[in-house]
Amino acid sequence: MARPVLIAPSLLASDFTRLGQEMARSEAAGADWHHVDVMDGHFVPNLTLGIPVVASMKRVAKLPLDVHLMIESPADWAPRYAEAGADRLCFHYEAAADAFPAALKAYHRTGLPVGVAVNPPCGVEPLRPFLDRIDMVLVMSVHAGFGGQSFLPEVLDKVRRLRDWGYAGDIQMDGGVDDRTAPRCREAGANVLVAGTYLFRAPDMAAAIGELRAGAAGDSTTP
Ligand code: DX5
Ligand code: ZN
Repeated sequence: MARPVLIAPSLLASDFTRLGQEMARSEAAGADWHHVDVMDGHFVPNLTLGIPVVASMKRVAKLPLDVHLMIESPADWAPRYAEAGADRLCFHYEAAADAFPAALKAYHRTGLPVGVAVNPPCGVEPLRPFLDRIDMVLVMSVHAGFGGQSFLPEVLDKVRRLRDWGYAGDIQMDGGVDDRTAPRCREAGANVLVAGTYLFRAPDMAAAIGELRAGAAGDSTTP
């Protein structure tokens, strides 16, 4: 499948005292999107940043803000994150549960590309009837909540299943992605790679992004 591989550094692993410079560092290193992890202390046991910070980031961002919402009641928040300056929004299927169709509509009303995330225990089967209305599926490769966790290879089956079903949208992987795990993500069919610890701790972020792309570039030569 010839689709470009996109690299989205997760700013969760950056130095928050220098957020603007860290964004500029990602941009200079050749990133495609800024991955912004919003955690509410309820859906996940961690609290990160919210609307005012997203709005501030938008003022300096030269790349799209890919906002990953790990929050309860995601439908209620869609318009507010869109207004704050998100360029893409992704919410968790588990957070919407029975209200998923209504939540999906709320996200579509923002006019932004809509992503739906699933944590490792959640299958992709519940998404299947809706895939024609989902721009991106985020297959979490760790349990949402913290950076620096180890990649869970068993979730790769979900990526393969989505592609087997003919899903042609973006498939993002997030959690424990590095130069060793990125090729496995790409081989399974993922085309958007989020990496926090690996990229922000790398001595040379551009080279590290190059590693992810090189590991993920094999498909580009495949017809
Ligand atoms: C985890 C977040 C991730 C996290 C990835 O809940 O969604 O985006 O920052 O961090 P690493 O790449 O360190 O696993
Ligand atoms: Zn994330």
